[in-house]
Amino acid sequence: MYLEYYGLKENPFNVTSDPNYLFMSKHHKEAYSHLIYGIQERKGFIELTGEIGTGKTTLCRALLREISDKVKTALILNPTLSELQLLQSIVEDLGIKTKARNKFTLLKMLNDFLITELTHGSNVVIIIDEAQNLKGKLLEEVRLLSNLETEKEKLIQIILVGQPQLKDKLNSSELTQLRQRIAVRYHIPPLDKNELLFYIYHRIRVAGGKDDITFTDKAIEQIYSYTLGTPRLINIVCDKILLTGFVSGAKHFDLDIATRATEEIEGKIRVI
Ligand SMILES: Nc1ncnc2c1ncn2[C@@H]1O[C@H](COP(=O)(O)OP(=O)(O)O)[C@@H](O)[C@H]1O
Ligand SMILES: [Mg+2]
Repeated sequence: MYLEYYGLKENPFNVTSDPNYLFMSKHHKEAYSHLIYGIQERKGFIELTGEIGTGKTTLCRALLREISDKVKTALILNPTLSELQLLQSIVEDLGIKTKARNKFTLLKMLNDFLITELTHGSNVVIIIDEAQNLKGKLLEEVRLLSNLETEKEKLIQIILVGQPQLKDKLNSSELTQLRQRIAVRYHIPPLDKNELLFYIYHRIRVAGGKDDITFTDKAIEQIYSYTLGTPRLINIVCDKILLTGFVSGAKHFDLDIATRATEEIEGKIRVI
C-alpha cells in the first residue's frame, strides 16, 4: 500500500526467499563459496546451518539459479515425507521420467541417471531444506543414496540445509556414519550492525527505491537491538517502518519511528 509513496516497484521487505534480493554479506559469501567448493570437488555431503531467517533458503535458491544450466539439481523443500515420497521427489525434480512407484526401481533409475550424467562429465546436486525435520531413519536413507558412487568419485552431492538442531540430530549415535561423511560445513551467523545497514539499503535499491529513503544511526541501532541482525526480523521491522513512515508522511526514519515499529510488532499500544 505504500509502494507509490516511496516510488518502489515492489515491497522491499517481503519475507519470501527471493534470490533477486540476495545481499552477500561476508558470511553469505563464505557460505556460497563453501557450497560451490563442495559441489565442484564432489565432496558428497555438505551441511549448511543457521538460525531461522538467516538466509539459508535464499542462498540455496541463488545457488540453484546459478548452477542449474551446468549441473542437474533437485530441491526438496518439505522433508516431512515418507522414504518413498522423498525418493520420488528427488527423481521427479531431477527430471527423470518414470511412472515407477517402488523403491528399488526408483533407485535403479536414479543410479542409471547418475552414471549417465557422470559419463557426460556432469554433476548432480540435491538440496534438502529444513533437513532438521528429517526423521533419523530417513537421514540414514539419504546416506545410502550417496552410496551410489563409483570407486573414485561421488556421483551425487547432497546439501543438507537446516536450523542448528540439524547438528544435534547428526550428533546422535545412529547417524555417526552420515556425520563422518560430511566433508564441508558452514554455519551462517546473523548480520553485524554495519552489514544490517547495507542490507536494508540493498533491498530498498533492488525494489526500485531511491536514496530519499534514509535511516538515522539511532534508527539502525534500534533495528539492530531488536533483530540482532536476523534478516527475516529486519524485514518485518523495516516493513513496519515503511508503513509507519507512509502514514506519518516521512521518508527519513529516526529512532522514534523505529521504536514505534518495534513496539507495534510487540503488540504494545503507544499513545502519540
Ligand atoms: N543475505 C540475504 N540477502 C537478502 N535477503 C535475505 C538474506 N538473508 C535472508 N534474507 C531474507 O530474510 C528472509 C528469510 O530468509 P530465508 O532464506 O527464508 O531464511 P532461512 O531459510 O535461513 O530461514 C527472506 O525474506 C530473505 O529474503
Ligand atoms: Mg529456509
